[in-house]
Amino acid sequence: MSNIAKVTLKRDIKRRVLLGHPWIYDNEIERIDGDYINGSIVDVYTFAGQFLGRGYINTNSKITVRILTRKPVDINREFIKNRFDEALRNRFNTVCENAYRVVFSEVDGLPGLIVDKFDKYLSVQFNTLGINMLKHQIIDVLIEIFNPAGIFEHTEGSVLEKEGLEEKVEWIYGTGPELIPFEVDGIKFLADTKGQKTGAFLDQRENVRKLMEFAKDKICLDCFSYTGNFGMHLLKSGAKHVTFVDYSERAIEIAKEIANLNLFKDCDFVVVNAFDYLKSNYENSKLFDLIVLDPPSFAKSSSNRDAAFKGYKEINYRSMRILKSNGILATASCTQVISQNEFENTLVEAGIDAKVLLKLLYRGGQSIDYPQMYNILESMYLKFLIIQIVYVNTI
Ligand SMILES: C[S@@+](CC[C@H](N)C(=O)[O-])C[C@H]1O[C@@H](n2cnc3c(N)ncnc32)[C@H](O)[C@@H]1O
Repeated sequence: MSNIAKVTLKRDIKRRVLLGHPWIYDNEIERIDGDYINGSIVDVYTFAGQFLGRGYINTNSKITVRILTRKPVDINREFIKNRFDEALRNRFNTVCENAYRVVFSEVDGLPGLIVDKFDKYLSVQFNTLGINMLKHQIIDVLIEIFNPAGIFEHTEGSVLEKEGLEEKVEWIYGTGPELIPFEVDGIKFLADTKGQKTGAFLDQRENVRKLMEFAKDKICLDCFSYTGNFGMHLLKSGAKHVTFVDYSERAIEIAKEIANLNLFKDCDFVVVNAFDYLKSNYENSKLFDLIVLDPPSFAKSSSNRDAAFKGYKEINYRSMRILKSNGILATASCTQVISQNEFENTLVEAGIDAKVLLKLLYRGGQSIDYPQMYNILESMYLKFLIIQIVYVNTI
């Protein structure tokens, strides 16, 4: 690659960057020399002129450069193929699964790219302009490695406008069904190409498996269920009944379809705001043996953390009040700007208000195909706990 524009960083370079974090913010840049267009490849240098890495630039984003490599190598098809090979090696046993995350953005050295595999189909997101510029080579490599029946692109969301990208929700290679069938733990699922993110959530794999151990004969509530990942697992492992709750009518319709596919009968489905549902059940004193809470992220940035704490406290408190004594609360947080400790402290506060004791049974995180790097804190987002609720007056 010749004539690559040169981005020189300010003198007081951040430790974060030196330690391998791939983002360069606009206020960390001293100057840019040479011609470039947004999305193109640039080289990053320290103030003293030392090469630091090669990545793509977008001056419309606060994250002006995302570094792809710390070596001065060509960003071409071979580079991308190597990144995929490395990502697959780092999936360990999950590559034997019928569905798994193939590439998880920065952590796999391909910032902005998400690839999920559902049986013989792939679902992809190109979330930045720079990674979108490499799309043809990426698709080419995906075809070589997986020979998929179809590749669906589901690129949407609020960041796209800033990146200068248009929403794209369509098959970009081959074709396939609107609802892609796949299997996890012997349960039939459907990834909804018109649904949320890549169509189905795979990040709770180990947590769901752990929770199955507590399901037998239990009356359960799968709250914020989406298409029913948790609840289907509970039914598979002998739950007496599962109520699925989500405010997305489409997600609940697909959950019903999934339950039918698996011949699960002991379930009902409610389209409602989960906050209202939990509150009204308290008023009606309906009691559950097991409740799952897997809400969406409650805060995208630190400025919304207080609202997020309030939300977590509310849903967990309400759940504690409608669980039987010794009942099981499986509670998750995917809000990246809230730490494990902060989440657990919020649960403790909810327990005090609900006048119950909390016994920790299991502490989990995101599945291994959603790798977590300590130097890229943004990659660590999922907290998951299985807690037993004990009424004070029962001990
Ligand atoms: C993280 S997803 C759940 C994923 C699911 N547990 C799984 O493993 O597939 C969060 C879900 O919460 C739903 N949701 C968001 N806010 C809600 C609310 N206030 N009431 C009910 N559902 C809500 C969304 O529609 C989405 O399906």
